[in-house]
Amino acid sequence: MINTLSALTCLVCLAVASTSYGQSLEGFPSQDFYSLEALDGLQWMEYQKASEERSAPIAKQVVVDGVRQRNPAEFFNERLLFSLPKGQAIQVTANEEATKWDFPVGTRFAHEIRFKDRDQTYFEFRMLERLKDQKWGFGVYRKNTEGFVLNKNSHSEELVFELHLDKNAQNPSELPLMSASQMKLQNIPQKVCAMCHQRASLGSIDGSGPCDFHPLNPNLGETWAKSFSDQNGWWPFVDKELAHQP
Ligand code: HEC
Repeated sequence: MINTLSALTCLVCLAVASTSYGQSLEGFPSQDFYSLEALDGLQWMEYQKASEERSAPIAKQVVVDGVRQRNPAEFFNERLLFSLPKGQAIQVTANEEATKWDFPVGTRFAHEIRFKDRDQTYFEFRMLERLKDQKWGFGVYRKNTEGFVLNKNSHSEELVFELHLDKNAQNPSELPLMSASQMKLQNIPQKVCAMCHQRASLGSIDGSGPCDFHPLNPNLGETWAKSFSDQNGWWPFVDKELAHQP
């Protein structure tokens, strides 16, 4: 039920996004390519989404061995990741109404999407990067043997993957029992990324940015900040006291 609802919300949001604007409001991230080591060197820290009420769309028109899939989310594993430039922290501003977070240039968020297949094949590594002049860059990186390459095509395209679907995936009953499969799908184009991320971001200084990394997300409290600090060696908020919503 929750899945169906959120999928519907996204379809509506996507329809609004692509009809009312039709072109990119923001640019791409700063780098066209990351080697595996360079991407790993960003010291990503995972976080949990704010709630199950809304979800990002993964792809459109997902077809497995010729069969159109009604619940494509079943085929993917997702993680939300955060990376701060070394030693820097989130600036927190609070008044009686709200707490807002402003991210230093070079802050990156990732939405890592992999297939639930034998090899955990990457579908997309989506990135949102804080650029100079209060701008955000949005982009989708695809993995090849060298590393992760930014897709500079801002329109949707049909993609084909040859996969060995994992029969032991989280929802085995939902997955067709098969080994080698061909999956065709259409990606969510770069030109619509900013639409959702401009309207939906709560608590950022200029109202745009990440959808689920904000002061109202109960999973980004002291415990998460402590894990960040243990992993990276510094506290992710400039002021420890003000990180949370009053
Ligand atoms: C229909 C709305 C929508 C569109 C279009 C969309 N996103 Fe998102 N995105 C979300 C939501 C909602 C989340 C929160 C995580 C979740 O629910 O999956 C999210 C999460 C993310 C995150 C993790 C940081 C965060 O927001 O918490 C990144 C990075 C991201 N999206 C990048 C992209 C990129 C790049 C594109 C374009 C290819 C894109 N998104 C298109 C709604 C959208």
